[in-house]
Amino acid sequence: MTPVTEALPAVKLTDRINRIEPSATLAVVNEADKLRQQGIDVVDFGAGEPHFSTPQHIKDAAILAIQNNFTKYTPVGGTAELRDTIVHRHAVDFDSDYRREEVVASTGGKHALFNAIQVLVDHGDDVILPVPYWVSFKDIVRYAGGNCVLLETDEAQGFRLTAEMIERRITPRTKLIILNSPCNPSGAVMSPGDLESVVRLATQRGIWIVSDECYVYLNYTDRRFSVGSLREYRDRMVIIGSLSKTYAMTGWRLGYALGPAQIISAMQKLQSQSTSNPTSIVQKAAVAALKGPQQCVEDMRLEYIQLRDHVVKGLRSIPGVKCTMPEGAFYAYPNISSFFGRSGVKTAADVAGKLLREAHVATVPGEGFGTTDHIRVSYATSTAELDRGLERMRKFLAGL
Ligand SMILES: Cc1ncc(COP(=O)(O)O)c(C=O)c1O
Repeated sequence: MTPVTEALPAVKLTDRINRIEPSATLAVVNEADKLRQQGIDVVDFGAGEPHFSTPQHIKDAAILAIQNNFTKYTPVGGTAELRDTIVHRHAVDFDSDYRREEVVASTGGKHALFNAIQVLVDHGDDVILPVPYWVSFKDIVRYAGGNCVLLETDEAQGFRLTAEMIERRITPRTKLIILNSPCNPSGAVMSPGDLESVVRLATQRGIWIVSDECYVYLNYTDRRFSVGSLREYRDRMVIIGSLSKTYAMTGWRLGYALGPAQIISAMQKLQSQSTSNPTSIVQKAAVAALKGPQQCVEDMRLEYIQLRDHVVKGLRSIPGVKCTMPEGAFYAYPNISSFFGRSGVKTAADVAGKLLREAHVATVPGEGFGTTDHIRVSYATSTAELDRGLERMRKFLAGL
């Protein structure tokens, strides 16, 4: 037998796999896990998921599905029951008017996003990506062969994105604009007016919009808003939704896309050749989530607002830290650039790395989201845990 220690021959991987990088967020999770395995108590502000448990009525629906043997293949894009429930929920909450053929259920929002971009973006197409961006957008576009045209937003303006800013970045090859409101990592929320101007501009120029609305229910302004309300522009838009954050269901993997039937059908074709249907029992749980009482969503939202206020107040009280007020999602995005140049620290990655290794607080460095001056702090945790982490950060940063 060949000894396992023998050097393996170099494998020629495809160009497309070499174009992408592993998720920066997952890298932090792995490093924090390693420290935990050594018995170190790590305060985790890195994770991008709710600290709540999935509501009981949703879990019960999945258990019942197993007991009723709802455990076989379903139609690739989800059962008719689930697809009708998704469009109904969206119509009630956002006054949209999608039909069953205009929705596909996938194995998480990321999967729906991946499929949408694979069917819309071709080699050499330009995709406008506002900065800061969620880590996966860039790599998913690159995997499809597209070029990301990065569009800087201004922290002093609360990372606001306007149609005028987008217009300046349009090229003859622009195929798609990616929107993400509420935004991961900045927590910025686009106003309905700004969203409408962007969608109108895109339609006038024959450009597609992919609107990632995975945090649409975690909006702390007085009005939650989906571009799906803008019915007159529906022919140019694909909306990505997810149950992960809304119902604390990250591990269940259920997301969806709403859009023109031709795009949805192409996404289903791709899905039919890769994952097939999302898990059957999860589809039953998703119907229960979307049809059942929505008070759980509001209760979680109200708690996130309190946690947001708490963490932003704490961060702003640390000398040298600046922090915009996030209006949605569950992340704060403090600017820590005033510490550069101290104790050999030069970048946000250096700050986050030292913070994890020396103060045992996990955060995600801004580089993964396209900015150099920030770290992302997830506040989806208890107030007590926030206080522990903030205290460690305060001491660590004071000692730099
Ligand atoms: C902006 C954004 N979109 C999509 C997703 C994907 O969520 P999921 O695949 O769990 O539905 C995430 C998860 O962190 C996210 O932050």
